[in-house]
Amino acid sequence: MTTKTGSTAKEMLSRTIQLPNNLKIPQIQLGLYMMSPTETTRSVRWALEAGYRGFDSAQWYENEAETASSIASFLSSPNTTSSGITRSDIFYTTKLKDNSTSVSQIRRAVDKSLSAAKPLGYVDLFLLHSPLGGKAARMTSWKTLEEYVLAGDGDDEQVEIKSIGVSNYGVAHIEELMASNPRVKPAVNQIEVHPFNTQNAIRECCAKYGIVVEAYAPLARGMKFGGRSKTLKGLADKYGVSEAQLMVRWSVQHGFVTLPKSAKKDRLVTNADVGGFEISKEDMATLDGLDEHLVTDWDPTDAP
Ligand SMILES: NC(=O)c1ccc[n+]([C@@H]2O[C@H](COP(=O)([O-])OP(=O)(O)OC[C@H]3O[C@@H](n4cnc5c(N)ncnc54)[C@H](OP(=O)(O)O)[C@@H]3O)[C@@H](O)[C@H]2O)c1
Repeated sequence: MTTKTGSTAKEMLSRTIQLPNNLKIPQIQLGLYMMSPTETTRSVRWALEAGYRGFDSAQWYENEAETASSIASFLSSPNTTSSGITRSDIFYTTKLKDNSTSVSQIRRAVDKSLSAAKPLGYVDLFLLHSPLGGKAARMTSWKTLEEYVLAGDGDDEQVEIKSIGVSNYGVAHIEELMASNPRVKPAVNQIEVHPFNTQNAIRECCAKYGIVVEAYAPLARGMKFGGRSKTLKGLADKYGVSEAQLMVRWSVQHGFVTLPKSAKKDRLVTNADVGGFEISKEDMATLDGLDEHLVTDWDPTDAP
């Protein structure tokens, strides 16, 4: 049975989730992995015009500067200023590529990202991209990010970091971090999550500590599109939506922050247009049952 909920794409894109700190994070954001600098500038602009307010970059993606300047250029355009949209409506995330036991090496890398984010004035969320590097490097990297958050915005010249989190952390990494009594609690754990990789154990651990799950590769990189999963196609047809929309809606209904990536204007608009239907409880369970631990890129969640 199809239930119409009637939210427009713009309304879906304005939905937020409360983080453990005082920040609210947009639930549907644009993923920016594997976007060239030119694609980034243009896709971020299209996304902002469509109503996206959250953007997920990383040192790895080599598009932090283009993301920040595209957002800043949108914010300063006459149409935007007259509509009242300001920096505080935007949520910008980036990630530290390499954990290290050298505080100066971490600081150099973080400062480079902050310098790229200068047009935005602050970074909403800074993540450790992965648990790789071993326990000592993870702990030093986390403590160094904490120092940035705790330093706050005392210095006008310094680009502030508002909140911090982790990515690709498995259960053991989360337990390790929480056992260290962190001065700043991780706000999120960004992991691969979609119906073909449901990550139940990590999700349960995040729930235990109030850590918000961010779902990356929510479309499973399109690997199951075009009828490659008969169940996914059958349910998409049943609801009269695309396979991509069904996967984004699944992610939203589970309460994740979800990060579908597209460098195509029509796709990034339709991917967020998921407010016109609601997946029934039974169909959510059917989709949950598709789990086959499909890894679309990498899986460092059990790294030593
Ligand atoms: N923390 C991490 O380690 C990590 C790892 C991977 C991803 N991420 C984050 O999560 C984001 C999303 O993950 P992802 O980019 O790997 O995969 P994804 O969002 O699951 O899928 C993106 C792929 O699907 C295609 N696509 C998008 N919409 C489509 C549609 N409506 N119909 C058909 N194909 C469509 C895109 O192509 P087009 O661009 O041509 O539309 C692209 O090839 C990343 O961009 C990144 O921000 C984080």
